[in-house]
Amino acid sequence: MRIRVTDHEGIEHALEALEGWRVMEIIRDWGYPIRAECGGACACATCHIYVDPDWVDRLLPLSDEEEAMLDQAFDVRENSRLSCQILMRPELDGLHVTLAPA
Ligand code: FES
Repeated sequence: MRIRVTDHEGIEHALEALEGWRVMEIIRDWGYPIRAECGGACACATCHIYVDPDWVDRLLPLSDEEEAMLDQAFDVRENSRLSCQILMRPELDGLHVTLAPA
């Protein structure tokens, strides 16, 4: 499986992704700039991403915790999500996300 990540310069990268991994972990482990300060505990909002509109409906809905944490992020949009709250599964092969401003 792969995900596609657009970085802060607008360049798209295809990253190998394993089932069960958090999208945040995939981005971080491939060395792209995502702070993810709380390590995936839904407690910092520094793993903020924008999900390509074509993919938004294929994700599980936001939890109350994720929604509350996103309220503290900058430049939140309709397609904002916390990447630590998205677990890779086969249906998400090809998922396209964009890194939010740091
Ligand atoms: S890594 Fe902290 S909320 Fe996602």
